Amino acid sequence: MAMGRNGLRWLGNCPTTKLNSQGQVFVMPSVLITGANRGLGFGLVQLYAADGWRVLACCRNPDGATELGGVVAGSGGAVTAHKIDMEDHGSIDAVAQDLKGQPIDLLLNVAGYYGRVIMTEPGGRQEFGDSDYEEWARIYRINVMGPMKMAEAFVEHVAASDQKKIVNITSVVGSIALIGQATGGALYGYRASKAALNAVTRTLAHDLKPRGITVVPLHPGWARTAMGGPKAAIAPEESVTGMKRVIDALKPTDSGNFLAYDGSTLPW
Ligand SMILES: NC(=O)c1ccc[n+]([C@@H]2O[C@H](COP(=O)([O-])OP(=O)(O)OC[C@H]3O[C@@H](n4cnc5c(N)ncnc54)[C@H](OP(=O)(O)O)[C@@H]3O)[C@@H](O)[C@H]2O)c1
Repeated sequence: MAMGRNGLRWLGNCPTTKLNSQGQVFVMPSVLITGANRGLGFGLVQLYAADGWRVLACCRNPDGATELGGVVAGSGGAVTAHKIDMEDHGSIDAVAQDLKGQPIDLLLNVAGYYGRVIMTEPGGRQEFGDSDYEEWARIYRINVMGPMKMAEAFVEHVAASDQKKIVNITSVVGSIALIGQATGGALYGYRASKAALNAVTRTLAHDLKPRGITVVPLHPGWARTAMGGPKAAIAPEESVTGMKRVIDALKPTDSGNFLAYDGSTLPW
């Protein structure tokens, strides 16, 4: 039996429970995170693990995820790595099957794809006349169909949990109301994918309400990751800390709201 943080011991046959020093059994909340190997996804893995959650860390290539591997190795079984490629629905079904019967309090879809060139690089703004439709299709498979497939594959795990939350990491550029205002123009493929993800997420909020599941799209802020680029406004730590605070405070009445990492509500 492995020792976890705070002197709590893992019960080997039941990864969502732990014992304290008085021998009392606690049920740990659990989170499944996609895009867990780097950027905001990895930051969220670290944050939830530090807060004593069971973390199911999903990424395309767990064997090559060195930093994540270090967190898994030092977690005493609390963090496990799973192979999911958002473009490969078979990989999503396989992990859902592996975890069958295990409640997941929070399904956190973080994995995302901007396109071949990041926004702050020359040619990276996906301007009018510059559309790469093969890239559009890939962006849609990862940013729109991926989170939808995740919701369909893991809905029973979430419905069986205490907290029953699904959070899809979106972007403020998916706000149609803010086009021509705060978010300017261009960014066609990525922007349209996040607007579509917002529609998917709000529809999930409606459809899963009878099952008591809270679903929100959450904008992480413009953060200095590989995608956000070095000129982005905030550090990844500020983004993930803010997102966790918002997620912790989510209530069923928040379901279907378009939220940001700083707790504000964004216009559709
Ligand atoms: N950073 C920002 O300023 C910003 C702003 C608004 C919204 N967002 C959103 O926030 C989320 C996280 O972004 P980030 O800044 O952390 O980006 P990032 O540093 O570029 O990381 C992207 C993550 O998505 C994963 N991913 C990409 N394609 C995948 C696929 N087919 N299957 C599984 N995983 C895949 C990557 O895995 P690999 O290592 O395998 O490629 C990586 O873990 C995204 O949804 C993004 O759209 C970010």
